[in-house]
Amino acid sequence: MSHPAKPQIFVTRQIAPEAIEKLQQHCIVDLWKEETPPPYETLIERTKGKDGLLCMLTDRIDQNFLEKAGGSLKVVSQLAAGYDNIDVTALAHMGIPLGNTPGILTEATADIAFLLILATARRLNESIDYVKNGEWTTWHPLTLLGVDLAGATLGIYGYGRIGAAVAKRAAGFGMNILAHSRSLTVGETLPDTSTTVSFETLFQESDFLSLHAPLTAETHHIIRAETLQMMKPNAILINTGRGKLVDHDALYNALVTKQIRAAGLDVTDPEPFPADHPLLSLPHVIVLPHIGSATIQTRTKMAFMAVENLLAGLNGTALPHPVKGS
Ligand code: DGY
Repeated sequence: MSHPAKPQIFVTRQIAPEAIEKLQQHCIVDLWKEETPPPYETLIERTKGKDGLLCMLTDRIDQNFLEKAGGSLKVVSQLAAGYDNIDVTALAHMGIPLGNTPGILTEATADIAFLLILATARRLNESIDYVKNGEWTTWHPLTLLGVDLAGATLGIYGYGRIGAAVAKRAAGFGMNILAHSRSLTVGETLPDTSTTVSFETLFQESDFLSLHAPLTAETHHIIRAETLQMMKPNAILINTGRGKLVDHDALYNALVTKQIRAAGLDVTDPEPFPADHPLLSLPHVIVLPHIGSATIQTRTKMAFMAVENLLAGLNGTALPHPVKGS
């Protein structure tokens, strides 16, 4: 008796080896092993004729890609919660289901947001450099003063799972929490004691403003010259969402003119930031290389979720973690 041929898939980066092994049990796996993502034309070439694609947020899955390489695809599975790199509408038109990995990275990403809150508040990178550079000659009452978290107001822009997890941490540190999200009614008190406020109040009253909204046409450059002007001069901006939420030129100007105090960014535009990016020259800016979900446990779970989505799509069954509207 002849067995049906195994489906062929393209995986655009090394992921947890156990997850690759699972894929290999069911599929013929073409795995991109380089450190950097496949260039766009290579992505097209390697996807052509494949039944499934397991991709990353660094891969551009647009209309042109789908026209050239999408003909045989039964499923696209993204190893990330965000999917702003993917043209969801074009995919839906072709009837190709899309899966992602939401939920599982909530705590890890909230940890990084909170790490940036603490690190910017207490001038962590400046303090480390001060010691390493031999500038630490004595204890001084006025050296490297930061700001308290207790009693300060944290504003959460985009109150989804990650925003709520950051709020939970902030409550433990004695912070007051304000939240703004399209889906929330202003004046509501949330279970974690956050108060929902208008967009204006959020920007005007937050000592720390943490961004957790997805990147959409509406949220693109939500941080720009005019919104930075609404913020307090002592405000600290935290971004663990997507780099394009922030106009980085406007942020640089706001920081050098002391319109706001500091910034902690886990995501930038572009990614990576060039080493000579002006923001990297500022002592009161901390930039991390998009490591929100980068723990062993979380990335392994994400890999298995992406595998589950991919295998379901190849079998023609409903994806366990489908993207809405796909
Ligand atoms: C995501 O999943 O969208 C994060 O940005 C990367 O883990």
